[in-house]
Amino acid sequence: MRKKIIAGNWKMNMTPSQAVALCAELKDLVKNDDVDVVYCVPAIDIVPVVNALKGTNVKVGAENMYFEEKGAYTGEISAAMLKDAGVEYVIIGHSERRDYFKEDDALLNKKVKKAIEAGLTPILCCGETLEQREMGITMDWIRMQIKSDLAGVAAADVAKLVIAYEPIWAIGTGKTATTAQAEEVCGGIRACIEEIYDKATADAVRIQYGGSVNAGNAAELFAEKDIDGGLVGGASLKADFGKIVCYNK
Ligand code: 13P
Repeated sequence: MRKKIIAGNWKMNMTPSQAVALCAELKDLVKNDDVDVVYCVPAIDIVPVVNALKGTNVKVGAENMYFEEKGAYTGEISAAMLKDAGVEYVIIGHSERRDYFKEDDALLNKKVKKAIEAGLTPILCCGETLEQREMGITMDWIRMQIKSDLAGVAAADVAKLVIAYEPIWAIGTGKTATTAQAEEVCGGIRACIEEIYDKATADAVRIQYGGSVNAGNAAELFAEKDIDGGLVGGASLKADFGKIVCYNK
């Protein structure tokens, strides 16, 4: 049985003081032992959020990292820095990074490997554009992303990984994929993992859905057999996130 994992992706929101206030506001609302709860926060919020969440059930994730060990990479943050600051998860390959910051699969593969080496759990994102969906190449595209991003990653590490399926057309648009569309692709990702690795690895890997998840649609999405939780943008910044985390209560 895979434990559900529900993560907030705060994106470029919340100053450090706002971040601490949000942690306090959500503290009692996000208690659910059935679920792993993660806040993926801007780099500058990591230290105050780690401190604010001490003694709670919530883990901290980063939204990005660089793959090099250390050195002259002005503005970047290493996996070791994240780990030392108390971070456990790191989002890799969010569509906003792929699109606005031109991160490609070769780079993301290096980031995935470095995160694992440092003892962080990657939340590896994949997803198609509306054009790709309309052309009928959704699954081909996502299989290509998964195969490239995980090239050379061992089965034992993939089993511990989180993959987030985020259709780009559903992000921040209020347009959620239907439960059937989300389940179809999450199931397709699991089949892809079984094909590259084996059934045990495919059964273990956790696959989230992301894209306009809210308090009203979370329970239906998370009831699907291949959807192991969600990666939540806008709704993670308000009290509604508590309802999403407690979707089964
Ligand atoms: P929204 O929940 O705001 O659509 O964002 C989804 C997302 O990109 C999470 O990573």
